[in-house]
Amino acid sequence: MAGAVWPTGATRLAAVIGDPIRHSLSPILYNAAFRELDLDWAFLAFEVVTGEGAAAVDSARVLGLDGLAVTMPHKAAVVPALDRLSPTAAALGAVNVVYRQGSELVGESTDGAGFLDALRGDEGFDPTGRTFAVVGAGGAARAVVRAVAEAGASEVIVINRSLERATAAAALAGGLGRVGTEQDVSDVDAVVNATPLGMNHLAGLPVDPDLLKPGQLLVDLIYHPPITPLLAEARARGVTAVNGLGMLIHQAARAFRLWTGSEAPLDTMSAAAIAALAHERR
Ligand SMILES: NC(=O)c1ccc[n+]([C@@H]2O[C@H](COP(=O)([O-])OP(=O)(O)OC[C@H]3O[C@@H](n4cnc5c(N)ncnc54)[C@H](OP(=O)(O)O)[C@@H]3O)[C@@H](O)[C@H]2O)c1
Repeated sequence: MAGAVWPTGATRLAAVIGDPIRHSLSPILYNAAFRELDLDWAFLAFEVVTGEGAAAVDSARVLGLDGLAVTMPHKAAVVPALDRLSPTAAALGAVNVVYRQGSELVGESTDGAGFLDALRGDEGFDPTGRTFAVVGAGGAARAVVRAVAEAGASEVIVINRSLERATAAAALAGGLGRVGTEQDVSDVDAVVNATPLGMNHLAGLPVDPDLLKPGQLLVDLIYHPPITPLLAEARARGVTAVNGLGMLIHQAARAFRLWTGSEAPLDTMSAAAIAALAHERR
């Protein structure tokens, strides 16, 4: 499309719905990927208020959007507006990607698979036979718990402020899951922070870093800031510690494939995200 008039009447549209949405990296990631592959697609962000998620999906259907990313607060609310859910989305009761299959709109959840892609592809960490502690029990934690259990983890321990949500999240790992306490992070192969503690507006540490040990892998699902207080403390103790950018890129890459049928240009998406985050920090 280089040099061509763009967009045209034939340009295909994908979008993200959420609230808040104006700081979303999705338009930057996906538009960079479309340009890299010379695909005649565009991606926009729509601010959709709580309670209007299902109506937004109906609108996307009528307008013929070819892809929808769904973020807070709509991940569960869009479900009734869809024709079908993938087994993962059905188990989680949440959707972060909507794609077309024939005349149907299908809901998928790519967060867990994106987490695994990052774990294996970026960190060279095979979850098979490994033990995990997941701190938090919200949407991201639930996706990770189910994904690592399905990928062959030997135990998945959920640590969360609210016991009821911890129990529900641990159940997603079937017989491999249990609710634990902060002390459990000392005895696992990998620790995942799936709480927002450490984001710019939420000071504090989700676990005591003195409980971590060299040889463990710590994944903080937060990517903004790129180095949370927990990551810094863990690294200072010799723990391999990475942020959530890999998961973000890989879950988006899976959405990209579902929408376009093309392999996503991971390096382009990653570079676009890093540049945007650096720009925000200035
Ligand atoms: N890298 C990625 O691609 C990616 C994808 C999704 C999410 N994330 C990140 O993952 C984090 C969680 O997202 P989410 O969608 O799962 O959120 P969520 O559904 O709101 O869940 C948040 C979890 O954190 C716990 N929590 C919140 N504030 C806390 C506090 N002050 N002290 C202790 N626990 C607290 C909550 O505990 P209660 O259950 O007790 O309320 C809940 O379990 C966010 O930082 C988000 O940015 C990253």
